Amino acid sequence: MHIHFRNLNTRGGKRDEALILPINDSISASLDVAQLCAKTTVMTCPTFESDRIWLNGREESIDNERLQNCIRNLKRQGTLSTEMEKWKVHICSINNFPTAAGLASSAAGYACLSAALAKLYKFDGDISAIARTGSGSACRSVFGGFVRWYMGVDTEGTDSIAKQIVPASHWPEMRIIILVVNDLKKKVSSAVGMQRGVQTSELLRYRAEHCVPKRIEEMHQAIIHKNFEKFAELTIKDSNQMHAVCLDTYPPCSYLTDVSHAISDLIHAYNNAVHSTKVAYTNDAGPNTVLYLLEKDVPEIVGVLDHFFPPGHDQNIDYIRGDLPSKIIPSKH
Ligand code: ADP
Ligand code: CO
Repeated sequence: MHIHFRNLNTRGGKRDEALILPINDSISASLDVAQLCAKTTVMTCPTFESDRIWLNGREESIDNERLQNCIRNLKRQGTLSTEMEKWKVHICSINNFPTAAGLASSAAGYACLSAALAKLYKFDGDISAIARTGSGSACRSVFGGFVRWYMGVDTEGTDSIAKQIVPASHWPEMRIIILVVNDLKKKVSSAVGMQRGVQTSELLRYRAEHCVPKRIEEMHQAIIHKNFEKFAELTIKDSNQMHAVCLDTYPPCSYLTDVSHAISDLIHAYNNAVHSTKVAYTNDAGPNTVLYLLEKDVPEIVGVLDHFFPPGHDQNIDYIRGDLPSKIIPSKH
């Protein structure tokens, strides 16, 4: 399944926590690559005594409302015999990239889980809408390329849907580099952080009302017209504003570290030196940075990163390099 990186972030929070309806539109890019994905196996049989889930080889609590929502919705809307309806399900999922570290594992995980359960329960409806009930951002991650989640206006959420803007083939020169600063689980989960933001941050409301709507339209157009400079500027500004909202949340959620800041400083210094916005950085709810750049600039940027963050340096980072969407080359220092 896809892992996605947001350019414009959903992290405006939710207008409805149970249905997972956002307070603004959002856009993300999905990386459709085997080297960076969630893999989920689901199994059901009459002898299972309870629903259970294993994530990355460790059993996790099944008593998770969002997980239950996904399972329940798919069971209800699938085509099951009354016999099978009673059977319990076992779920095994593995992410081959850091989980809960700001690289959108929840999006990849719930998109994958929803697709797997849809097959098991012979559900042929809208998987994206089901995935949304697990993790909001997962509704985008069931599609490839650049995807927009329209917030919708309906209280039931029927018009809160994701649509592909363009497939990845529309912008074949686009590349990403993922800088893994820290692969530990974040202290405050995205769901908890967002809920806290909606309750306490005035900046969040201002952002959703006055900043994001305009930016979303500009970003949509920048993608359609392959205007990299505009794309990059919007990506950077939106990432920074989202982290400003995280700090405005009370108590604050600080996801960025000194190394994340050192990387963004370096990118600004580079763009300034070459008099053009050649590289964009963006951080989701975690310290790990995703760079967007064009293929022609990859060798030079990798050289710059190697120079300033050399192997063995105390600000060591791992690179994951890749196309969007076809190839990711993990290269551990
Ligand atoms: P991230 O930045 O990685 O998306 P979140 O805080 O949004 O972090 O979500 C992390 C949570 O998502 C995990 O604690 C787990 O509950 C869920 N999750 C992550 N990967 C999977 C997966 N492959 N299958 C099911 N659930 C997953
Ligand atoms: Co997430």
